[in-house]
Amino acid sequence: MLKVLVVDDDAGLRISIKSILINSTSNKFDVDEAFDGLDAFEKIKSTEYDIVILDVDMPRLNGIETLRKIKEYQPGIIVMMLTAYATIDHAVLAVKEGAYNYLSKPIQPDLLIELLDKAIEAHRLISSIAASSPVMMDSGRKIIGNNAQMQKVFNIIFRLSKVDTPVLIRGASGTGKELVARAIHFNSARKEEKFVAVNCSAIPENLFESEFFGHEKGSFTGADQRKIGKFQYAEGGTLFLDEVGDLPQHMQVKLLRVLQEKAFSPVGSLREIQTNVRIIAATNRPLEDMIKAGTFREDLFYRLNVIPIFLPQLSERRDDIETMIHLFIKKFNQAHCKRISGITPECLQALKKYDWPGNIRELENVIEHAFIMENSNLITLRSLPESILNNLGISLLNVNEEHHSSNNKSSAIFNHNDLDDTDDFSDLDNEDNLLFDHDNNNNNDHNPVEVLSSVSVDGAPLDFNLQKELFEKEFIIKALKQFKGKINQTALHANIPKKTLLRKIEKYGINAKDYSIQ
Ligand SMILES: Nc1ncnc2c1ncn2[C@@H]1O[C@H](COP(=O)(O)OP(=O)(O)OP(=O)(O)O)[C@@H](O)[C@H]1O
Ligand SMILES: [Mg+2]
Repeated sequence: MLKVLVVDDDAGLRISIKSILINSTSNKFDVDEAFDGLDAFEKIKSTEYDIVILDVDMPRLNGIETLRKIKEYQPGIIVMMLTAYATIDHAVLAVKEGAYNYLSKPIQPDLLIELLDKAIEAHRLISSIAASSPVMMDSGRKIIGNNAQMQKVFNIIFRLSKVDTPVLIRGASGTGKELVARAIHFNSARKEEKFVAVNCSAIPENLFESEFFGHEKGSFTGADQRKIGKFQYAEGGTLFLDEVGDLPQHMQVKLLRVLQEKAFSPVGSLREIQTNVRIIAATNRPLEDMIKAGTFREDLFYRLNVIPIFLPQLSERRDDIETMIHLFIKKFNQAHCKRISGITPECLQALKKYDWPGNIRELENVIEHAFIMENSNLITLRSLPESILNNLGISLLNVNEEHHSSNNKSSAIFNHNDLDDTDDFSDLDNEDNLLFDHDNNNNNDHNPVEVLSSVSVDGAPLDFNLQKELFEKEFIIKALKQFKGKINQTALHANIPKKTLLRKIEKYGINAKDYSIQ
């Protein structure tokens, strides 16, 4: 028997939930009631509950405050929030704070039972895995996160990598959704199999089905070859559905079916193909609003949202900024053959103050920009993009930043020796996205590259490949801006094959969606 506590100030609702649970065919629930948060907390102190079903909007102690108290007192308890549409934002917040999931009123009996079953299953799986320090890295990249919120995320990632449930990663642009998805895959039992990322916002609507499930030769105009889809390609591994909020409605139905039945049929075929693929989805769109507006299916949402992960904005985790700068400096030292050894205190202070609307991706781009602009061996305020200096109200005319020569390491935030401390990349150097090889940086105070990097044309390094890449990146961004981030149109009008465009976009860490509302 599972002990359940139903907490709602509406007595009628409590009674109807109680009767749904008691009359459910599984017959496994023993249900108590509490009329508000304080009453609930008193009951939790005297009885051990497995599940609490908690209304968001209650007098005296509201749902969120009650959740916090309950979780503090008994962290392992499963809490399911109940919400009216008006309070859905609070329910989402509650999930961020540790509630398992939420259910909209009016309560649908089947959905309530289904969600509780899932919660119990996920809880059983997860609590059987002892929490331990996760190895947070994937193929060549490293996830930084000393901040407390990120430590919680890491813990979930570690546990999630040991189970096979779907995951929904939520977070603003550039917060690390894909990196987290990769970390889950590369720490899981599927790590030897493929991690296949599909960007749902980059697929033309009429090609979705074929992209996902493949097609038979001749099944539609242009299908002159049989083709396998991403599900088959990822067989045994993980399929990362990025920007899942952009999935058109007819594909939402099809995806739901695959998740339920673990089988699909290629376009133009009657064959059923069994699939064993773990789904990790990500989005920065407000799925709750989309459900309300009828553009995202609630049943698919619940399927995907078995265990949600919310990634904080960089501005909510400023304590990680310095470590990230450190990481990116290492990365770009290799990529640009430079020997930048650190950042000036003034510059670091400025970067810690900035709000980072584009999050970690923006920080990474700013450090790369600084690498290109900087002629000394430290990143200084002078090498930051003008937009950031303007935003922070810093005028270079008034800046009295110390001049840092190559030998002046004492005032830098970190120096060459720091470059060797933490990396665990050594077994990963077969990956083409390996960020840097720190061995190349070891104790090499004599630095021939610095001399080279001081050869410049119009103030920029005289390096053909570097300049070519800069041009490409700038060109692609301009073209995307012009076509509002639309991949197909950009490829067509800028005369770039779509595949090449997508490859370059990935290579330069460009986010096409950033340009959709210019
Ligand atoms: N915690 C982290 N530590 C180190 N690097 C990170 C971290 N999070 C993100 N990054 C880096 O920031 C960049 C953006 O990350 P990622 O692509 O995973 O974000 P995203 O949330 O998927 O962004 P978008 O919504 O724009 O697709 C990547 O280069 C990634 O390696
Ligand atoms: Mg992404």
